[in-house]
Amino acid sequence: MVREDKLEKKLRAREYRYEREQRYLRKRSELDEVLEEVFDRRTLMTIYELMNRGFIGEFYGVVSAGKESRIYYALNREGEPLAVKIYLITSAEFRKTRSIYIAHDPRFQKVPRDFRDFIYLWARREYRNLEDAYEAGVPVPKPYFVRNNVLGMRFIGEDGRRYPLLMEVELEPEIYPRIYEQVIEAVKKLYREASLIHGDLSEYNIFITPKDEIILIDLSQAVRVEQPVADELLLRDLRNIARYFGKMGVETPEPEELFAEITGRSPFEKPL
Ligand SMILES: Nc1ncnc2c1ncn2[C@@H]1O[C@H](COP(=O)(O)OP(=O)(O)O)[C@@H](O)[C@H]1O
Ligand SMILES: [Mg+2]
Repeated sequence: MVREDKLEKKLRAREYRYEREQRYLRKRSELDEVLEEVFDRRTLMTIYELMNRGFIGEFYGVVSAGKESRIYYALNREGEPLAVKIYLITSAEFRKTRSIYIAHDPRFQKVPRDFRDFIYLWARREYRNLEDAYEAGVPVPKPYFVRNNVLGMRFIGEDGRRYPLLMEVELEPEIYPRIYEQVIEAVKKLYREASLIHGDLSEYNIFITPKDEIILIDLSQAVRVEQPVADELLLRDLRNIARYFGKMGVETPEPEELFAEITGRSPFEKPL
């Protein structure tokens, strides 16, 4: 009797495995049309798992294909539009150039040695940055999920077409001062309410909606205000902003002055 039970269990387990594999293969062939061959097996498994759990319902085309990540347009089970950012499992080089952003982040104590784990941490950190910014009311895409190297956030656009980035549009000259004010407000809020600095802020990482509202994206390099690189990155962000809006005819204060306005101290003083 006992032995039969065991046998039955075994058979059921095998059947279950078989069914799971079939499901996996079905999903796989559907997905093969969308996902190129750039992903490793474990990344594909992560994607299938997210689909099986309903975080991702349908996958559509690629929105952006960078060296380090790819972004896909997708829908979740509720039909909400998603931008799914998938970090490529790249070389150890990535770890070398990015460690500085992770070092001394109080939210993430350990910097993993293994570069796959490092990239997982990188994705988790971008998710956390989005979450902290979003909760503080900074205009960023709402984050939905992160698993391993796959991050899901709100898709910024309509009908699968993304809105343009600031660098892709030419607006009426009188619009620029208003956009500039929004950007400075967002940087201020990010600093004061979320304790974050964007770290890669420029016209390349700012969306502009049809109502001329801004949305900041790409918070993977954002750092906490208490990290050693924080001041340098904030100043660099402000220089980029002043340069761009200066070019667009907006009169902007010196970056150092903006820094003081946002932080309450000069960029050359050590923070308390
Ligand atoms: N939430 C989003 N909705 C729509 N498109 C997005 C979204 N996030 C990113 N994109 C698109 O993908 C591109 C790359 O995303 P980004 O996060 O800036 O990664 P990276 O610059 O590191 O490749 C963006 O320039 C934009 O065109
Ligand atoms: Mg970018």
